[in-house]
Amino acid sequence: MRLCINIDHIATLRNARGGELPDPSDAATICEQAGVDGIVCHLREDRRHIRDNDLKKLRKIITTKLDLEMSIAPDIVRIALMIKPEMVTLVPEKRQELTTEGGLDVVKQKGALQKVINKFHDNGILVSVFINPAQDHIDAAKYIGADMVEIHTGEYSEARSAREKRKHLVIISQMSRLARKLELSVNAGHGLNYSNISPIVKIREIEEVSIGYAIIVRALSVGLETAVREMVALVKGKSS
Ligand code: PXP
Repeated sequence: MRLCINIDHIATLRNARGGELPDPSDAATICEQAGVDGIVCHLREDRRHIRDNDLKKLRKIITTKLDLEMSIAPDIVRIALMIKPEMVTLVPEKRQELTTEGGLDVVKQKGALQKVINKFHDNGILVSVFINPAQDHIDAAKYIGADMVEIHTGEYSEARSAREKRKHLVIISQMSRLARKLELSVNAGHGLNYSNISPIVKIREIEEVSIGYAIIVRALSVGLETAVREMVALVKGKSS
């Protein structure tokens, strides 16, 4: 399994003081040195964390891969086509939300998504769609030509009881299997942390996880490099 780290929160901290530090690009380099397989960031329409200049700088220095999380707003699509990340993850975006709350409604937005996916494919950029673990959304992701799905693990992460967690794990596992059968690659993310990642790692169909908040929070105690190495160890089964 591959681990990609979302570095949006480094930019959130930088923006809190309106200065230059901490620099998301420096953080990306540390994460790569600590063994991640890719760097994720979300260029939001309101630019609340990552900004256009961050993206340009990240594109220059990243040596693993850049996964740009984004809505399909025309202005953001234009920037993405200029930056040329290795992959994009299409997500829904609401101004008022603290973080991406739900999966994309791939079923309702088939036409618009298909057009955007075609543009990315014409430019050699792989496309993942962030979806809730539901069969109609996986079928729709295949229909619109996505290369990958990222399964939303939020409900699993937020489940309070062991029984609830198991229920969501079964759904994630079944939907991952279905996606693989349809020859979609399977990623997963949202709310994953050091205590809940292990059952996800055991789902063979999931090839990549995208984790942000938990690693950045841990970094406050042990430093970014150690926090990343600890998660790399859990995801890849290596000792840190
Ligand atoms: N995947 C997607 C599509 C997301 O929007 C986010 C949050 O930015 C994540 C993964 C990472 O979630 P978390 O910060 O809870 O690890």
